[in-house]
Amino acid sequence: MSQSHTNGIPFLDLVSPHVELEAELTAVFHKALRTAGFIGGPMVEDFEKDFATFCETAHSVAVSSGTDALRFALMAAGVQPGDVVVTVPHTFIATTEAISQAGAVPEFVDIDARTYNLDPEKLLAYLENDCSKDASGRPISRRSGRPVTAVVPVHLYGQVADMDRILEIASRFGLMVIEDACQAHGAKYFSRKRNRWMTAGSMGRAAAFSFYPGKNLGACGEAGAVTTNDAGLAATVRMVRDHGQAKKYYHDVEGYNGRLDAIQAGLLHVKLKHLAKWNEQRQERAVNYQRLLEKMGGVVIPHEPAWSRPVYHLYVIRTADREALAEHLKAAGIGTGIHYPIPLHLQKAYAGMKLGKGSFPVTEAVAAQILSLPMFPTLTREQQVRVADEILRYLRRSSDAKEAGELAAVGSKR
Ligand SMILES: Cc1ncc(COP(=O)(O)O)c(C=O)c1O
Repeated sequence: MSQSHTNGIPFLDLVSPHVELEAELTAVFHKALRTAGFIGGPMVEDFEKDFATFCETAHSVAVSSGTDALRFALMAAGVQPGDVVVTVPHTFIATTEAISQAGAVPEFVDIDARTYNLDPEKLLAYLENDCSKDASGRPISRRSGRPVTAVVPVHLYGQVADMDRILEIASRFGLMVIEDACQAHGAKYFSRKRNRWMTAGSMGRAAAFSFYPGKNLGACGEAGAVTTNDAGLAATVRMVRDHGQAKKYYHDVEGYNGRLDAIQAGLLHVKLKHLAKWNEQRQERAVNYQRLLEKMGGVVIPHEPAWSRPVYHLYVIRTADREALAEHLKAAGIGTGIHYPIPLHLQKAYAGMKLGKGSFPVTEAVAAQILSLPMFPTLTREQQVRVADEILRYLRRSSDAKEAGELAAVGSKR
């Protein structure tokens, strides 16, 4: 039976969690209206305290977006204008925007073909082969002639990058590590070095989180946070987000208007209480997909290394002709997404980098084949079975079509 659009499956359901929490969420508005505490104050501080606890860090500083969080973290960590900051080309452009807006220059290393995250061995190869050393032993990029001072691993799709190895390489070359944890609220990483599970955002010098509405913890608007164990860095972020002042009208530096609204902090605080449960629900749904899809030839499911407990911000499969599969699913009323179709080094915005096709082959191969399936805490098992059935139907049809094409070709040669 063909799937009608009336009972379609959305890529993301942002309405149900808000309807469920409506009374608590609207109470936040009433509180803010009655106290006129719109900027800063206890609602922001309470959220910061509990988000730091959730991330197992000493501090969290709420800011106006994930992009600002990353920019402020880089600045507060001491990245200087003109420094090179290394990251991956397979991420959302906000990662490199934040680097550029901190005055630094992004340079790329390729990703791992299985986790889709920064490949530590490629970082090492970059530092050994694509950099020289100055008199004090600092790596200098041969490409730009600038000092390389930081690396930004992106915990893409909710899976932490291999932080032990990245931290080890970074420390050998004197680089700071700032985590882009914008998609990884609550993701866990087993550190072989420390012999314990650690939480995304607690391993680098600082980390950036986004609370964009579709994230695992999403605001009802724009929001972000920096987490860190460094009290000085947290204080600098607090100052930078608030026009460079620690005391009203005493401006130590020029800063930004990068504060978080109290209402958003209050809404996030209500939702934070549910985040661990929502993450578990996403993990259960990932197990369902795995069981439904793993034996289907023609699709590659996400790889979970033994040291990783991802929170599945996105559930991303790979397949040879993902446009055709996406079209098939769309016709069946099933929403999908592509995160992200064009690697950053091939974006028009970065044409000036003069990095052509073939510069980062793993990223390019992955970007051409990925497809994000519906993933949200209230996705039902029946909906997942339907998604899997439609994928199977598509695969069967395309292999039949291929076989028919081959037979026709053989026939025409006779
Ligand atoms: C990997 C990554 N980095 C940075 C950001 C920027 O976050 P925001 O949209 O809150 O500025 C996002 C979110 O969109 C992201 O997914």
